[in-house]
Amino acid sequence: MRGALIVVFIFVVIALGLIISLNKPIKKNSVINLSPTKVMINSKKISLLEVEKHNTADSCWLAIEGKVYDVSPYIAGKKHPGRGAIIQGCGKDATSLYNTRPMGSKTPHSDRAKRLLSQYYIGDLAD
Ligand code: HEM
Repeated sequence: MRGALIVVFIFVVIALGLIISLNKPIKKNSVINLSPTKVMINSKKISLLEVEKHNTADSCWLAIEGKVYDVSPYIAGKKHPGRGAIIQGCGKDATSLYNTRPMGSKTPHSDRAKRLLSQYYIGDLAD
């Protein structure tokens, strides 16, 4: 009898956990991590015209490989090892600059830089 009660209790706890996790609202533009695949939902489309308005260090948007990033906080934090080089890409499709670093080593950024970059994603470049 006691064993049966314990089984019922465990079942109720699992069922409640499932109900709570399934009821969580999905935020717009958020990343669902279905490890190892990351799925973007409702990603915002941003035109190059809009990107071009953010061409200063204080408001710096970069388009890289079809994705748009607002790297202003990264610049403000003075965290970029390549210092001012990043400013050259503000308000532009900076794919080539970012991948070839003509003013520096002329090599692509590291995987660490790519992970950092993903934190500043704000939407997809509109066609
Ligand atoms: C137009 C955009 C950018 C340009 C032109 C640029 C350029 C550079 C340059 C010249 C260096 C010095 C090292 C070298 O020459 O190899 C560097 C290093 C670095 N940059 Fe950038 N950068 C840009 C954007 C970014 C962004 C958006 C991030 C991350 C949010 C980033 C993260 C890093 C990191 C972590 C390093 C250290 C070396 C490495 O890990 O590859 N950069 N960058």
